Amino acid sequence: MDLGLRGARVVVTGASRGIGRAIAQAFAEEGADLAVCARSPEPLERAAGELRELGARVVAEPVDVADTGALTGFLDRAADELGGLDVLVSNVSGGSSASWEQGFATDVLPFVRMAEHAVPRLAASERGGAIVLISTTSALHSGRPSGPKSYGALKAALNHHAAALGRSLAPQGIRVNTVSPGPVEFEGGGWARRRTADPEFYTSVRDRIPMGRMGRPEEIARAVVFLASPAASFTTGANLVVDGGFVDRV
Ligand SMILES: NC(=O)c1ccc[n+]([C@@H]2O[C@H](COP(=O)([O-])OP(=O)(O)OC[C@H]3O[C@@H](n4cnc5c(N)ncnc54)[C@H](OP(=O)(O)O)[C@@H]3O)[C@@H](O)[C@H]2O)c1
Repeated sequence: MDLGLRGARVVVTGASRGIGRAIAQAFAEEGADLAVCARSPEPLERAAGELRELGARVVAEPVDVADTGALTGFLDRAADELGGLDVLVSNVSGGSSASWEQGFATDVLPFVRMAEHAVPRLAASERGGAIVLISTTSALHSGRPSGPKSYGALKAALNHHAAALGRSLAPQGIRVNTVSPGPVEFEGGGWARRRTADPEFYTSVRDRIPMGRMGRPEEIARAVVFLASPAASFTTGANLVVDGGFVDRV
């Protein structure tokens, strides 16, 4: 589908594997240009090469998002090299085993600071700026696999901030939305590891998903690209849950 993203200038953090990589690919398939980051240079360069093969202009930089100066510097260089900024996707997380301190540094502050820093450029976007936060269904329920850990609680705080930004930035033409994936499996990812390391836990979670399987990164990516696109021009402050029916809520 042509979602009107040809030539859009898109930043995706944590785009060297898994969901972030699928998001960057889905934008490239729509004709967007990309700035991508991750900490390890080699997988990032491989992912950037695949994006270039799809025809995208690509800025790829090894950046730790917990380093605010490095992150905002990356945003500045991305905007300079791509000629502006239309879409920001905050995808990095410290994951479900991160401490509260790590989670605050890798999940919360990067989203808050990136959004603040990008506002003038997103407001200048002729297409209308868009921010998409990648959250999780663990922010929407407290039982397994969420539990009393930093991951779900800090993502819930981010959901709140993204919803508030959606309303406060609307007058500047910037939409802010959240995508909340349920369990997503891919080679090298957390659920693929648990499948072998803790098959009982893996199966207990999978069997609670009404669709009977874990999600795939590209199924999350398509939701992100839609929300960032002009096809979602009147949608802001929303939280799109993509989980095969995992979380039972209205
Ligand atoms: N997978 C799931 O089941 C699932 C479910 C719900 C929500 N989510 C959410 O979806 C998002 C992506 O999850 P995923 O499973 O695809 O993650 P992942 O496999 O851990 O991949 C994360 C990506 O971020 C990069 N990264 C990690 N820490 C970084 C840091 N400090 N600075 C810069 N880059 C960093 C990684 O590369 P480097 O390691 O080289 O830095 C990699 O490219 C997260 O927000 C997660 O909470 C995932």
